[in-house]
Amino acid sequence: MRTLLIVLGLATLATACVGGESSEPPIVGIRNMYNQPRYDTQERQPFFADQRSMRPQVEGAVSREMERSLTTATGLAADEGYLLEVPATVIARRGGSAAFLKRGKDRYEIFCATCHSVSGDGKGMVSRRAASLGASGLVAPSFHDDRLRHIPDGQLFATITNGLRNMPAYAHNIPVDDRWAIVHYVRALQLSQAPVAALKNTEQSK
Ligand code: HEC
Repeated sequence: MRTLLIVLGLATLATACVGGESSEPPIVGIRNMYNQPRYDTQERQPFFADQRSMRPQVEGAVSREMERSLTTATGLAADEGYLLEVPATVIARRGGSAAFLKRGKDRYEIFCATCHSVSGDGKGMVSRRAASLGASGLVAPSFHDDRLRHIPDGQLFATITNGLRNMPAYAHNIPVDDRWAIVHYVRALQLSQAPVAALKNTEQSK
């Protein structure tokens, strides 16, 4: 009889878990992160005179990590056009071009290659999956397109910072210098696959 009960009990438990949805609150063994003294968004709280739990920023406060140069932080020049090149100050403070490229490769392969692929041809895992499902809006473009080869460095930076349509924004995941390092590396990727003619042109324009 007892064995039967145990078997029945186990069976009920198992069926309750498989794919089933429940409107009951979850049973949580250790509740210490659930029960914590805190205020919810918009909740009234008596400590401050205005009784708001959401506190305004202290005026003039600047976070330690914040980039103080507006052009470096946005990729926009003073005239509001895009910066044409990665700011030299950023490359210098990151130990020069070679080290900066290395960092850019590292970050690119972590953050971008899933969609844009390691070589930048837009055939990363996510894009291939999207294409096979017919979701063409989620397929990342190739960096070796003529148009993308010629957009300014600042525009590449702004695309990473703000995202673009289906591409997510990375302002909060990738620090400013790393975003510029990725731009530097994308330019190297583009150069590595540019037709010989394009290479000759860059040689001449130097
Ligand atoms: C989740 C997939 C995904 C990831 C990750 C991703 N992208 Fe994209 N990216 C896209 C898609 C999709 C588009 C096309 C957006 C559109 O035009 O609608 C795009 C477009 C772009 C463009 C073209 C912008 C233009 O002017 O047309 C650039 C440049 C770019 N991505 C750079 C990057 C870089 C650099 C990273 C890494 C920091 C990155 N992307 C990460 C999906 C991704």
